[in-house]
Amino acid sequence: MQKTAHKVAVHDPIWVTVRNEAADMAAREPILASFLHATILNHDRFENALSFHLAQKLGSAEVRAMLLRQPFDEAFAADPDIGNAVRADLMAVKERDPACKWLLQPLLYFKGFQALEASRVAHWMWNNGHQAIAMFLQARISEVFGADIHPAARLGRGIMIDHATGVVIGETAVVDDDVSMLHEVTLGGTGKESGDRHPKVRRGAMLGAGAKLLGNIEIGEYSRVGAGSVVLENVPRCVTVAGVPAKIVGTNGCDQPARQMDQRFTDADLS
Ligand SMILES: CC(C)(COP(=O)(O)OP(=O)(O)OC[C@H]1O[C@@H](n2cnc3c(N)ncnc32)[C@H](O)[C@@H]1OP(=O)(O)O)[C@@H](O)C(=O)NCCC(=O)NCCS
Repeated sequence: MQKTAHKVAVHDPIWVTVRNEAADMAAREPILASFLHATILNHDRFENALSFHLAQKLGSAEVRAMLLRQPFDEAFAADPDIGNAVRADLMAVKERDPACKWLLQPLLYFKGFQALEASRVAHWMWNNGHQAIAMFLQARISEVFGADIHPAARLGRGIMIDHATGVVIGETAVVDDDVSMLHEVTLGGTGKESGDRHPKVRRGAMLGAGAKLLGNIEIGEYSRVGAGSVVLENVPRCVTVAGVPAKIVGTNGCDQPARQMDQRFTDADLS
């Protein structure tokens, strides 16, 4: 039987770059070649590669990877905006994480990116009559990637979750576009409220490692939350808060803290 060449979507520069990186890596490191072919090079579209790889990661003895591809493929086909958000997230990681040298890295290896993209599919399932599948995905994402993201949480695009381990995002949380957060961030309830009870994080905010944001509070756009802070009250835009409980300690120090990932406090912050 004649082998059909894969028709690669050349109008998708991110996918073309990912494929070129994979081909280059496969040529340099033969022991990774079959993995890179199965995961990247055998696919014609970015969404197909992502669906294959995430299903491989999240499949289990109970629901095999091959079956688990169905929800991914269904969500990607029904809502092309998920693919757009995935691409924006990938570029966000490449721009903001100094440890990210290739676009291929988050796709293959970064738990935060993988958890976020699988959660986008869980969110689609949640909103489209498949809550049981959404809950299964949430549980597997938590087991495999260490990030517990409720499928009802509303997530913008261009988001970076760095390292991911220990991140918790509650049911009524909102994370706007261009937010960055590090490991062990909690967007949780106080335990005293019901209904709409989780934080709303506005555009471009940066949440340091271990920051605990509790309650239906708003973190203003382009603000920064210091590592290890416990935030219990609204935070205005363009400020830095830190401490337990968190207090305003200064201005955000830069125009777009989540993009620049500037986690230093300046003298102005501390005065
Ligand atoms: C500790 C907790 C139960 C306090 O509830 P509470 O007794 O009703 O306290 P209040 O909200 O009335 O706050 C009382 C004071 O303690 C402070 N405070 C509350 N929670 C705090 C915390 N976690 N760390 C430090 N200070 C805290 C408040 O700032 C307030 O200080 P003030 O009197 O100087 O203004 C609650 O804030 C909390 O941390 N719950 C755990 C929630 C959680 O883990 N959620 C994650 C879900 S995924």
